[in-house]
Amino acid sequence: MLAYFSTPLTVQIPLAFFWGRDHRQALEVWTTKRARDVVVDALRRDADGSLRLELTERLRAHQERNPNFRFAVFEPQTGALLPGSSEALAAHFKPLIGDVEVYGSLFHLTDDKNPNARGYVRTTLTRYGKLGTIVYGSDFHWDDIFYQLHAYIVTENILAFLPFCALVSLIWFFVIRGSLAPLHAAASNVRQINIDTLNWQAPSSELPSEILPFVEEVNAAFQRVRDGVARQRRFTANSAHELRTPIAILCARVDKMADDALKIELQRDATRIKTILEQLLVLAQIEERSEGKPPPALELGGALLAIIADLMPIAYANNRQIEFDAPDVGVSVRAYRWAVESVVTNLIENAMRVEPPGGFVSVRLTGDAIVDVIDHGPGIALEDRDMIFEPFWRKSDSTPGTGLGLAIAKELMEKQGGRLWAEETPGGGATFKLAFSREEN
Ligand SMILES: Nc1ncnc2c1ncn2[C@@H]1O[C@H](COP(=O)(O)OP(=O)(O)OP(=O)(O)O)[C@@H](O)[C@H]1O
Ligand SMILES: [Mg+2]
Repeated sequence: MLAYFSTPLTVQIPLAFFWGRDHRQALEVWTTKRARDVVVDALRRDADGSLRLELTERLRAHQERNPNFRFAVFEPQTGALLPGSSEALAAHFKPLIGDVEVYGSLFHLTDDKNPNARGYVRTTLTRYGKLGTIVYGSDFHWDDIFYQLHAYIVTENILAFLPFCALVSLIWFFVIRGSLAPLHAAASNVRQINIDTLNWQAPSSELPSEILPFVEEVNAAFQRVRDGVARQRRFTANSAHELRTPIAILCARVDKMADDALKIELQRDATRIKTILEQLLVLAQIEERSEGKPPPALELGGALLAIIADLMPIAYANNRQIEFDAPDVGVSVRAYRWAVESVVTNLIENAMRVEPPGGFVSVRLTGDAIVDVIDHGPGIALEDRDMIFEPFWRKSDSTPGTGLGLAIAKELMEKQGGRLWAEETPGGGATFKLAFSREEN
């Protein structure tokens, strides 16, 4: 609609003005409608029913403004000229009048010295019925353009264009929505990004070129974040690794000391530092290894049995037992053996710490790859169930430990696509549950 109305202003008039004039582009074309309106407005019917043209104020003003203006109105059937018409002008059309109904024709009189003069002949519907109208020789004035544009903007035109506009708007709506769809998809992916899924890249192939630079900048920013995170992970891993040797030396020196109370205290402190270090290394290792790819397949029953066999002597020495229950068929999961060792050892150690003397800690593996580590100690209060997985959180300082074990265990499980949570043992105690991601065959 805008294009339709603005074409005269944006295309036709500049063309006429700068390009030279031909029959279409003479600016005088724009005057004919106004001239015809002035003439039709001057129509009068006399008492005897006959029509004539009166020299109205408007007509006089138009003539004054356009000294060469001429006009004629005639009965379309008979060709009879209405009084007030220019006979000389009508004479040019004599052969046509009566025989031809002219719907609209632009003309130039060839004997006119002004090459730009334009006229218009057409059958016009007036308030007195259909009449032939001829106007000629109005000069171009800039306000003619506004007169003509104003005449365009009538209810019928707007109504006629409404369905078209609605259709165009609808098409644009779907086109814009369609072209932004990849951006919406990318946005929902961005929502899922966390420190473990930094490898994500916004797809740039289907995006409109206007937003491509933005998406490429986002991807470049992700790359910088990824590099920074990788640098920090490497730093943690290297520091933990570098600390291993001095701590091993420290432990060896403490072991050589003469047996006394100080030696026992130092040994406990050194073991604590060593445990934290080992845990940091385990965490750094899974971050290095799990870059984008899933863990390897692991037969869980066998792995658990090996861990329990290692812990059994310590359990006996502490007057506790470990019970193991697994289905007859192997349970295959996706996990790193060393990560499972770290997680399960920590859970069994925690359980043995709270298990009453003479009791037994149960480890149960089910066919759907869930491992329960069950103890019969004080259990975990409902309000502590989330806190126990926070780093360095410990219920009381009276028990040994750093409070890192469960936080690391949970992270290791999640990095392998599994889960770790705590429940209550029926009859009292805590049951820690591990869910592994199963190997698809
Ligand atoms: N089986 C359990 N029964 C009751 N409380 C538990 C049990 N396991 C863990 N907790 C509580 O959760 C806290 C955190 O456990 P976590 O394994 O993270 O650390 P820790 O055993 O104290 O130290 P670390 O494992 O780092 O040597 C423990 O200090 C204890 O208070
Ligand atoms: Mg622990």
